[in-house]
Amino acid sequence: MSPIHVDESSGSDETGKGTPDQPYQTLAFAIFTAPGSTYLIRKDASGTYEEPTQSSLKKAKKGADGLEKKRKKEEERAEREAKEKKEERERREKQIEESKKIVLTEDPALPAAKKAKINKLTPLRGDRVKIQGWVHRLRDQKGIMFIVLRDGTGYLQCVLSGRVAQTYDALTLNLESTIEAIGTLQALPEGKTAPGGHELVVDFWRVLGAAPGGEDAFTNRLNEKSDPSILADLRHFVLRGETASAVLKLRAAMLSAFRKALVGHNLMEVTPPCLVQTQVEGGATLFKLHYYGQDAFLTQSSQLYLETCLPSLGDVFCVQESFRAENSHTRRHLSEYTHLEAELAFIDFNDLMTHIESMICETVDTLLADPVASALVKQLNPNFTAPKRPFMRLSYVDAIKWLNDHGIQHEEEDAEGNVIKDENGAAKMVDHAVGDDIAEAAERRMTDILGVPIFLYGFPAELKAFYMKKMPRKEGETGPICTESCDLLMPGVGEIVGGSMRISDIAELLAAYKREGIDPTPYYWFTDQRKYGTCEHGGYGLGVERFLAWLANRYTVRECSLYPRWPGRATP
Ligand code: 4AD
Repeated sequence: MSPIHVDESSGSDETGKGTPDQPYQTLAFAIFTAPGSTYLIRKDASGTYEEPTQSSLKKAKKGADGLEKKRKKEEERAEREAKEKKEERERREKQIEESKKIVLTEDPALPAAKKAKINKLTPLRGDRVKIQGWVHRLRDQKGIMFIVLRDGTGYLQCVLSGRVAQTYDALTLNLESTIEAIGTLQALPEGKTAPGGHELVVDFWRVLGAAPGGEDAFTNRLNEKSDPSILADLRHFVLRGETASAVLKLRAAMLSAFRKALVGHNLMEVTPPCLVQTQVEGGATLFKLHYYGQDAFLTQSSQLYLETCLPSLGDVFCVQESFRAENSHTRRHLSEYTHLEAELAFIDFNDLMTHIESMICETVDTLLADPVASALVKQLNPNFTAPKRPFMRLSYVDAIKWLNDHGIQHEEEDAEGNVIKDENGAAKMVDHAVGDDIAEAAERRMTDILGVPIFLYGFPAELKAFYMKKMPRKEGETGPICTESCDLLMPGVGEIVGGSMRISDIAELLAAYKREGIDPTPYYWFTDQRKYGTCEHGGYGLGVERFLAWLANRYTVRECSLYPRWPGRATP
């Protein structure tokens, strides 16, 4: 028998083989694995393998005995565990067999159950009620089952004990199954908490649609560790979560609150088309499609249509999808977003900004005054406070000065719009000049430093869309011609509203088409507004997802859309 080798410094009891090249580390382990062999030991690789001394052999034997004891203990524990597992499995199998014999029937002597939604339960305390929903959470505590049921309106704790918790369905129930639960609604005893302050003590229930367990279980498809592309593919499951559903509930409340504010200011809701043949915000971001042999686009903005409603319906608004084919992967850009737009007649620029401010503040006030909506705001954005009026107003020219005073620079671009890089490959940063587009990064830094909503107004005409009204020039004023345009910037999100006064003079509009290289032919209906009774008017568009990201403190607008679309993503 070849001797067993031990190297006390570079050997290993885990990976060693006892050979000269792969020695063990301890003599105790060598004796434990190969009792009765001969052993050779060295201190480290610089020494030679020698026979161990009698005293070290004696000591190592003791160590080996210890290891043997440990191994035995381990073996016994494994045996015990296997036995327990087997017993548990048998107990469970028996329990399942037994459970098949338990058939629940509804006790006809009990009062008829009232079918209700979870958010309408409080007045029904003490009554027998019937609730249908999804198993949101599930816990078995010494044979008593606690199910948190979800029906979209809220969450309800259901308690199942005795026979109702011993059926086959009870023992095999999985998360996200749909069930119907009938029982008595009881206020919670002092010191206990559950959603709504009550729980359903179930006397009869049944599974409506069982969800799978095991490999295909909901929590195996989706969990906190799932990566972003899985979360995007499984958006339909993400929506079932407490946070995503709270965002969507707040979105619904927010849209109602906006509608209330707008209608309260005499604006009428209209529904303009999504399929259009004109651009509003520049041809570069149009989604083009074939339309019965003609070219058509998905709308970028319903503004032009809203303008045509003024002579018919007065001030109007719409909540409509807008589409932007921009290759922007930022946290505030979507390819399709919900656009809340409004148009008002016979106003001036100051009226426009005051109106936008009122709509935002009245909407926030409505939400905070509503117990359900304000609870959602609190859940998602615990530090939210309503913005103070009036909002800060900062002219474009003053903003350029502010950025330079605060050392906020931008990347210099060449004539083709490519970023100029220095010898190390870093972008060359330069001060802002009047006439520059204020880039997203600079705008956000400014907004975050100022920490309040800001109306940034008076952008140069060449940076803005063709339809914007020019600002009247003061005597001797130089610099670029500015427009009566405004962006509303919010801390944390940046621009949430873009608005302007519109050109009301027909000759000026025709000149603007020409300047922008736009063929006026398809715009005949828009031009006609200036021909048949023009008026001073203006309007704005608010990005619903951006407003919600601000209100609910979401990292990205993608969380604020039901099924968000961004470059490359139109699934599910
Ligand atoms: O500033 P924008 O492009 O203005 C217009 O479309 C005007 N015609 C609106 C009008 O006056 N009726 O867009 C208005 C708002 C932006 O402030 C932003 O909140 C949102 O729409 N928005 C987007 N939201 C998400 N993803 C995008 N790609 C967005 N583009 C604009």
